[in-house]
Amino acid sequence: MTTPHKATCALITGASQGLGRALAEECAGQGMDLILAALPGSGLPEVALILQLAYGVRIETVEMDLAAADGPEKLCERVRRTGFSVDMLVNNAGVGFARRFSETSSLQNETTIQLNVGALVRLTHIMLPGLLRQRRAWILNVASLGAYFPMPSMPVYSSTKSFVLSFSLVLREELRGSGVSLSVLCPNGIRTNRGCRELIETQGWAGMATCQYPDEVARAAIAGLYRKKAVIVPGLVNKALRRASAFIPRTLYMRVISRRWGTGQEKPSRGPTGATEMMPAPARA
Ligand SMILES: NC(=O)c1ccc[n+]([C@@H]2O[C@H](COP(=O)([O-])OP(=O)(O)OC[C@H]3O[C@@H](n4cnc5c(N)ncnc54)[C@H](OP(=O)(O)O)[C@@H]3O)[C@@H](O)[C@H]2O)c1
Repeated sequence: MTTPHKATCALITGASQGLGRALAEECAGQGMDLILAALPGSGLPEVALILQLAYGVRIETVEMDLAAADGPEKLCERVRRTGFSVDMLVNNAGVGFARRFSETSSLQNETTIQLNVGALVRLTHIMLPGLLRQRRAWILNVASLGAYFPMPSMPVYSSTKSFVLSFSLVLREELRGSGVSLSVLCPNGIRTNRGCRELIETQGWAGMATCQYPDEVARAAIAGLYRKKAVIVPGLVNKALRRASAFIPRTLYMRVISRRWGTGQEKPSRGPTGATEMMPAPARA
């Protein structure tokens, strides 16, 4: 049974797979009704059916491209039509690449910015008045530990996550005294899609020591959100890395990452294309 200080209905973007799906399962397991969003044809209705059967909660799905100019507006219209009263917003959908900037296309970069930053800001802006009308409500924004460590091989991706971190901290401060709590999640590598798993393996012991499974990140995220943590960094080593980020000179660790990932000047590429897809290609969107 849902207690008054827990959410009753969560809207989760990017819920068809990976961390979003794990967050959906964590919320369903806590008895929340769900509205799940992802791209069309991603198997979202099947995910919803599995969770419905397992947890007996009500679930609506919305298949749409959130990176489209009117994506967030259309999603909110569909949310209104469900009649559900959302008291938790989870901005999880995101894309990114491990690729030198000179090897990316404008479409990839713009879609990454549009989804990771534009859609998150727009969706939060549209949903906020409704969340403020609730007695209690929660917002979880998914950034990355990369927000603290600008990554030479992911210039656009890690910069979008720095934006998400900064935006979230400012909005959290603005919401102080209201019924809405906001936390920002900054995970290190998560074993989600193939690109992410390959990237983790490429980093050898360092990748293995810091990576996590989607369900453990999701558990830590929702627990941290309820504890009103400003920044949620799952994993002890990752927490230490976040603290260390304040003391390590940026130029030094960027040099180390460049060398480790083989994306610096000395080793211009790894693999035939010189690029590792980390998350779905924005070009699909
Ligand atoms: N995996 C990691 O190592 C890692 C580390 C730190 C932070 N993160 C962050 O965690 C979040 C989830 O990452 P993940 O690894 O779980 O990714 P994922 O497995 O690739 O899943 C991404 C989700 O976003 C959806 N999506 C992609 N483009 C979309 C669009 N244009 N409109 C609507 N939905 C869209 C996907 O839908 P489809 O299934 O239809 O493609 C999918 O549901 C992202 O914000 C990511 O930046 C991930």
